[in-house]
Amino acid sequence: SLKLLIDTDPGVDDALAILMAYRQAEPTALTIAAGNVGLRHTVGNALRLVELVGAQTPVFAGCAGPLVLPAADAAFVHGADGFGDTGYDAPTRQAEAEHAALAMIRLSHAHAGALVLVALGPLTNLALALRLDPTLPERISRLVIMGGAVNGRGNTERVPSEFNIGFDPEAAHIVFSSWPTFELVDWEATLRHGLAYADIESWLRADSPRARFYAAISRRTRSWARAHGRPRLLTADALAMAVAVEPGIVTSVAEHHVGIEMSGQLTRGATVVDWEDRFDRPANARIVLGVDQARFEALVRDALGVV
Ligand code: BDR
Ligand code: CA
Repeated sequence: SLKLLIDTDPGVDDALAILMAYRQAEPTALTIAAGNVGLRHTVGNALRLVELVGAQTPVFAGCAGPLVLPAADAAFVHGADGFGDTGYDAPTRQAEAEHAALAMIRLSHAHAGALVLVALGPLTNLALALRLDPTLPERISRLVIMGGAVNGRGNTERVPSEFNIGFDPEAAHIVFSSWPTFELVDWEATLRHGLAYADIESWLRADSPRARFYAAISRRTRSWARAHGRPRLLTADALAMAVAVEPGIVTSVAEHHVGIEMSGQLTRGATVVDWEDRFDRPANARIVLGVDQARFEALVRDALGVV
């Protein structure tokens, strides 16, 4: 069965992705980054999710901020606690003592060749793990990254930069320049695979603890998205997780070299794609351009316990 290692910064859409993961697989571990909010909250949110699904998965806390930049979170979207400030019960379990980057390396040995690594947040932990052990990719079967904006239509104030990459461009550079091939689910794919508000709202009325929980934590992001004129609800991390758990869902893909802009007055944190393959560099990214929308929605419904 599918062995998932999920590196994440929950975060509302991370939560939907994690609920989806538990329906399709038994995640081996969650490694946690700072991102949407600070590490204390992202770790607590991950523990709360593991409890919600009744699992015993170990949770490993990682880096509290980017390698170089100061942390610039997205609490204005996700709420100060990253879960919409609903005041849910504190988790009873605690994170493991081992650092996330070390846990990634150890688990890659324990499950050599078997793990699908799904990166749903800034790439800080993974970059650190790669610096500690450059042979890590040899023991990971697939790496799926939610990040980037392949044609420059990002979602941060530096226009072409997407949040996960823009939060820690140096970490993204380490991963993109040293991981042989990974699957990239970017913000622009996310824009093409939104969920109609009427659909998600009807699914969230399902009589299931997971639907109730997600309805509560996503209330704020849903009204934020509507207030900002977004035509559909965007769930970036759930889309990446769908690709991770069901590779056949991908209907269109492009393989090219993708690099990270680390300077740039207006473009720091951009993903730069060599669309014409003009430079003699091997393609490192399988860029997901489209998925089967009906299958994606079926996975979301199943994640929420909609029958
Ligand atoms: C990404 O940024 C975060 O806010 C989301 O959780 C997602 O991982 C989208 O740009
Ligand atoms: Ca995320």
